[in-house]
Amino acid sequence: MIEVENLTKRYGAFTAVDRIAFKTNSGEIVGLLGPNGAGKTTTMRMLTGFLPPTEGSARINGHDIDTDSIEARRAVGYMPERIPVYPDMSVRAYVTFWAQLRGIRRPAAQVDKVLKQVQLFDRRNTLIRHLSKGMRQRLGLAQALVHDPPVIILDEPTIGIDPQQVIEVRETVRALRAKHTVLLSTHILSEAEQVCDRVLIINKGQIVAQGNPGELREKLQGGTLLYVEIGGASSKEAKALLAAIPNVISAEKEGKGWRLKVSPNADVRGEVSKRVMSAGCTLLEMRAETTSLEAVFLELISKEESGAS
Ligand SMILES: Nc1ncnc2c1ncn2[C@@H]1O[C@H](COP(=O)(O)OP(=O)(O)O)[C@@H](O)[C@H]1O
Ligand SMILES: [Mg+2]
Repeated sequence: MIEVENLTKRYGAFTAVDRIAFKTNSGEIVGLLGPNGAGKTTTMRMLTGFLPPTEGSARINGHDIDTDSIEARRAVGYMPERIPVYPDMSVRAYVTFWAQLRGIRRPAAQVDKVLKQVQLFDRRNTLIRHLSKGMRQRLGLAQALVHDPPVIILDEPTIGIDPQQVIEVRETVRALRAKHTVLLSTHILSEAEQVCDRVLIINKGQIVAQGNPGELREKLQGGTLLYVEIGGASSKEAKALLAAIPNVISAEKEGKGWRLKVSPNADVRGEVSKRVMSAGCTLLEMRAETTSLEAVFLELISKEESGAS
């Protein structure tokens, strides 16, 4: 479990991470989602003891990263943004080396177990220089997992690897949930949506929204969307008719039809069809629309930007 309070990092006058606070539950995959420069890596480096916070505190499985740093570090496995590589080491030797650094006395069995977990056991004798990027990424995962920590922190685990490898890395990460708490960063929305149980959206060092992907979408979009196309009415008539329906927040022209913003939990479909017919018009199409997290995210980020200017 990770508990973060008021965590802040300043570089001179520049605030890279600005009073963030969050908590993870055990067995949860939490995504730190944000554009480049948002403060994801800085946050993770503070949580893993590589960078002292300017202000605030954090606990890893109850151990304060400042006052109880040895135990805090022991409880966490970290895959950094750039994995240090030793090209002339074999896969197995590399993971064994990390296991020894982590104080595991007879690491052989544990190393084999972890290599199987990340699907590199068949490559155990391969030199790192001969691994593909995706395999190196999985080697980074093995290094983070080797001491079986309760908390795992992964900084952009799928960056720069090919689509097939992305799928494999995501599957490996999903499987970790059974036994570990995972915090992973990404700038890819679909990844956060697919892999994470909960998402923290970070922008300019601040957490601007959080929730599970579905909740976030609802909260930010402020209701649900309905697309409606009407025949036999002028644009003006159609708009007046739709906007007058209870629980319709707004009706905006979209292509040949209208996009209705509807109050959360309201179902206006029956009323739409009734009113369209009684006005002597035809209902050509009606369907619920979902906003992708992508749209929500862009909306959030642009709001932040216009708010700042
Ligand atoms: N050592 C440093 N000195 C000054 N600024 C830094 C330093 N490290 C990071 N930053 C700045 O802090 C911000 C957050 O960076 P980072 O945490 O790497 O973002 P992310 O991982 O989300 O892309 C960026 O604007 C970056 O330029
Ligand atoms: Mg980063």
